[in-house]
Amino acid sequence: MWTSNEVRKLFLDYFEERQHAVVESSSLVPADDPTLLFTNAGMNQFKDVFLGIDKRNYDKAATSQKCVRAGGKHNDLDTVGRTPRHHTFFEMLGNFSFGDYFKEDAIIYAWDFLTNVVNLPKENLWVTIFHEDDEAKDIWLKVTDVKAERILRLGEEENFWSMGDTGPCGPCSEIMYDRGEKYSCGHENCLIGVCDCDRWLEIWNLVFMQFNREPDGELKPLPNPSIDTGMGLERICSILQQKESNFETDLFIPIIKKIEDLTGKKYKADEEGFPFRVIADHSRACTFLIADGVLPSNDGRGYVLRRILRRAVRFGRHLGIKEPFLYQNVDVVTSIMETPYPELNEKKDFVKEVIKMEEERFFVTLNEGIKKVEEMISTAKSDNRSTITGQEAFMLYDTYGFPLDLTEDMAEENGFEVDTQGFNLMMEEQRERARKANKSDGAFVEEQVINEILEKIPASNFNGYNNLEEKSTVLALIKDGEAISNAKDIEVSIVTEATPFYAESGGQVADKGNIKNAKCDFAVENVQKVASWILHHGKVSGEITVGDTVELLVDQNHRLNTARNHTATHLLHKSLRKVVGEHAQQKGSLVEPERLRFDFSHLHALTEEELLEIENKVNEYIWSMSNVEATNTDINSAKEMGAIALFGEKYTEEVRVVSVADSIELCGGTHVSNTGQIGLFKIQSEGSIGSGLRRIEAVTGKNAFEYLNQAEAKLQEISAYLRTTPQETLYKIDALNKTIKEREKELELLKSKLTKESSESLLDKAVEINGIKALIAQVDVEDANILRQNAEMLKDKLGKAVVVLGAVTGDKVGLVCFASKEAVNQGVNAGNIIGAAAKVASGGGGGRSDMAQAGGKDVTKLPDALSTARELVEKTLS
Ligand code: ALA
Repeated sequence: MWTSNEVRKLFLDYFEERQHAVVESSSLVPADDPTLLFTNAGMNQFKDVFLGIDKRNYDKAATSQKCVRAGGKHNDLDTVGRTPRHHTFFEMLGNFSFGDYFKEDAIIYAWDFLTNVVNLPKENLWVTIFHEDDEAKDIWLKVTDVKAERILRLGEEENFWSMGDTGPCGPCSEIMYDRGEKYSCGHENCLIGVCDCDRWLEIWNLVFMQFNREPDGELKPLPNPSIDTGMGLERICSILQQKESNFETDLFIPIIKKIEDLTGKKYKADEEGFPFRVIADHSRACTFLIADGVLPSNDGRGYVLRRILRRAVRFGRHLGIKEPFLYQNVDVVTSIMETPYPELNEKKDFVKEVIKMEEERFFVTLNEGIKKVEEMISTAKSDNRSTITGQEAFMLYDTYGFPLDLTEDMAEENGFEVDTQGFNLMMEEQRERARKANKSDGAFVEEQVINEILEKIPASNFNGYNNLEEKSTVLALIKDGEAISNAKDIEVSIVTEATPFYAESGGQVADKGNIKNAKCDFAVENVQKVASWILHHGKVSGEITVGDTVELLVDQNHRLNTARNHTATHLLHKSLRKVVGEHAQQKGSLVEPERLRFDFSHLHALTEEELLEIENKVNEYIWSMSNVEATNTDINSAKEMGAIALFGEKYTEEVRVVSVADSIELCGGTHVSNTGQIGLFKIQSEGSIGSGLRRIEAVTGKNAFEYLNQAEAKLQEISAYLRTTPQETLYKIDALNKTIKEREKELELLKSKLTKESSESLLDKAVEINGIKALIAQVDVEDANILRQNAEMLKDKLGKAVVVLGAVTGDKVGLVCFASKEAVNQGVNAGNIIGAAAKVASGGGGGRSDMAQAGGKDVTKLPDALSTARELVEKTLS
């Protein structure tokens, strides 16, 4: 019996022996392809090769590709766990031909591999073809021994494969495996190609890539007919390991076991095992997605990850787990998959931490959201509604982060429905708002139109890495998406044969400068690359004509300052990883002449010490005067050198490697030639820009010097204000603080003395009733304690007495009463007096017969409260 690792290897070896380049799986995050949410097929990384835009040094390839189908055109999220054969994350084994072999060899290879290498019994195999594809049928009959009655024609839905709404596509031919009667759903229509039940397993899809679907739906022929195939590793393993379900193969069993340990429940292959299968599947998806740099968030890829993760947590609840657990599956997933995907081991700790934090957050959300939904349901019930409106569901989602599927679940449990259409509408509106807000005004080119103009002229030759001046010929002038032959005093885009101008790319801003000759001067405002052409945008002063010879002059200062920041970005990246760990991956950057910005994945704020250490390390690189080397090589050699490839970037076969000291990165940007040129590096700020994402802003060279100068000037200003020197500033502030504290103490003392004195002056106001001195007064005291102290002091001074004091303390009324023994003996009850008085001032309280204290809310009623006290005292004593 073959293990999954063996099957994968068998496949790749088979094609390697047949002159296919074995190419590594690309990231789950498609490089540079906004049309695609996640890598969903082996062919994604070759999309541009099929389209003829990108060239490789091989024309046949084989891969085992990480794929996620949980959104977009190919979405299996809701099917996972219900069938033995669907997944969010899975591996696709594929062989590819880029204009080399076509249908015939693709069919020969697939049939040979299945029937002669892994020895599947032919009597279990069936073949489907696109209904119009007679050629495919003839080839199947000619080159294999499959029987004619085993070849079925199916329609577009089944046998025409497209990557997405746009992109490469073509008719396909699928090899199906019949698992036998026993697995049939029993329906009379349970036929191959018709029935979707577990009896029929699609194992290998051979796509005859012939077209590119354009955004308007039109099919344009590809430059060369090509081959794209895909076989699900999990499925072929289930057959070869004689298992009834993918979940019982060696790819899943250890994860299922772990879930059994965590829950203390036993897995069953039937309906009861549904939550196990979902959790096992989602554990793999979460682990791989996070390892490939996706982080949970509220939109795009991050949102899909969040949904998958939360779905797993919810199914955990079905199994009785009410606390974070999913992160504990990362170790098992890693141990199963680390041989082909070593990145898992590197990122393991980080992946676990991300999952755990997200689980914890979700529990908080869940508890809050559940309360809200309950409230909504009861409001709806009292309104005689049985639907949760789209707006309510959206509010739950938008304000409380409570997912729609959960709202639906809870609604269903209460016999309610959710207006998902209304929800989707609101969601779409929100996206539209976000899109409008984000629309950048940086790009000035309308790619579609311009491509047509540019295809007629040779690709631009960028020669500006070590060169800032060039004489070249104007090949095209473009105005509002159209080619013009001559431009006079207008804004225009210029394309020249060669250029030293760097076009905005990889986070680095475009060069500035001038293009001129005797007749014109053109200030270059922006430079953009469109496919292989470089467009200089700006305004012509004078006149320029296609065919003119011009001088292209890059602004040296702009270039050098930008280069300082770019090289510093590499040094920062390296230092950051040394200080906080390898998980701190670059997530984006902006390199300008004035400053640099660096975004990276990390879960906590950096400490002062870490920042200092990072800053020191970067400056040490600078002071070590290391040379910066750039070499061109192929991607594999670059990876062997240990070059860091950036997340989400697209790399061609030939790549540029920038090395400086022990930092090696793939990078097309412009750099200083020696780190010494950077001069100085200073971090200005560090902060969060989203969950698990942080940003550092820094300056170099003259800007760093100016930044420090400004800080120094500020300090000068502060010390001058304090009438001291910068060196003495701290002592001075310390001394000032001490003085302030002393003054505060003195003030306190004075205050209490004052109130004591003013209280003493009250002694005269006491009236004697039947031998007891009664004093009832309002005083000016801010603190209830002092009020009590004063009342007690007055009572002591008066001897046989009852004292009631009232004051406004803050925004409340304070009332206190002290009565001497004699007064109490004559019937005075402090508690009763204060109780009655406090009530008048909207308060309450009381106490003993000799002492009582209370507060009231209504300060305007203080005089009335005291009158009430007075009446009571007088009545009691007389
Ligand atoms: N790209 C084809 C598929 O995903 C092979 O089925």
